Amino acid sequence: MKSSLDPWSVSGKINYEKLVKEFGINPMPKLPQKFLKHLLFRRKKIFAQRDFEKILKAKKFVMMTGLMPSGKFHLGHKIVTEQIIFYQKLGAKVYVAVADIEAYNTRNPDLQELNKIALEEYLTNYIAIGLKPKNCDFYFQSSRSKDSKKSNAYYSLVGLAARHATFNEFKAVYGNISPAKMMSSLFQTSDMLHPQLKEFEGPIPVVVPVGIDQDPHLRIARDISQRIKVNNFLQLSSTYHKFLPGLDTGKMSSSNPNSYIALTDSAKEVEIKIKKYAFSGGQPTVKEHKEKGGNPDIDISYQYLTFFEENDKKLEKIYNDYKSGKLLTSELKELAIKKINSFLKQHQQKKEKARKQIDKFI
Ligand code: TRP
Repeated sequence: MKSSLDPWSVSGKINYEKLVKEFGINPMPKLPQKFLKHLLFRRKKIFAQRDFEKILKAKKFVMMTGLMPSGKFHLGHKIVTEQIIFYQKLGAKVYVAVADIEAYNTRNPDLQELNKIALEEYLTNYIAIGLKPKNCDFYFQSSRSKDSKKSNAYYSLVGLAARHATFNEFKAVYGNISPAKMMSSLFQTSDMLHPQLKEFEGPIPVVVPVGIDQDPHLRIARDISQRIKVNNFLQLSSTYHKFLPGLDTGKMSSSNPNSYIALTDSAKEVEIKIKKYAFSGGQPTVKEHKEKGGNPDIDISYQYLTFFEENDKKLEKIYNDYKSGKLLTSELKELAIKKINSFLKQHQQKKEKARKQIDKFI
């Protein structure tokens, strides 16, 4: 399978170690207990960072991230959502940008549909997973704020940022660049830096949790931030998480229906998808499996359990039993189906209530 990775397309197998070296990002430092309680930190799903120590030391900080409202909300999206909520619970102010201008420029030119997807697919799911309106600034790139001072400051920063980068830098960082992609990059720079403007929080540490494909945007924004002298931007912090794999390996993506489990899928649909499509690390026959054992490291059902089975001991036993051949592929799949469906059942109930709360966020 051919693989590629840039902020607008991710496909094929991702070699995280290689990317860490290529991008010059750092492994996670030793984390305090309150972080390690969270599965994503403990299991190193969040595996790399830039300037994250600053956040660990900060008394007050902002968490800023964004979403491209493209298509169905799936299990992969849950990873960013959980981080937003984790930081909100820690006491950070959270900023969430709906990247509708970016989506318009690079994916789907129907702004009305984008708006609908952002609210009905994304925000509703965020609320159901636990996002609270307090200390949360949820906005659209196309409509920053009703407060004109704030709005002007955000859009001015998009414009000002352009002066501080060169075309060669853009080419070097993104490879294939177009005016639409350049605007997306400059908008994202403003998304990530504007919380530090005086109209918002003033200079403050900001952490941006993203998938590793987004690092080019961070490199550009970090460089620009230190060149804009009219503002005293503190350098941005960021963390990088591994993608939840798609059923057919690669990245779970809403543009590939064979890859995702949507948060609206029924229990039956999940069962069929896992049984039929989840790539297996097991042997072709039960006899062989019992003799040689399976390979949990490439098995998608096992990978899902690493995101959904909270109990470390249980997970370790599943790993060992599968590897030794004691646990069969059909049994492993059953475990994954059960865990995912129990999450989805609760989630879908919460989502009904969440719909009524949308107004509190916009
Ligand atoms: N480019 C991001 C994506 O494709 C969305 C985004 C827009 C974003 N602004 C952001 C992410 C700011 C992090 C921070 O998903």
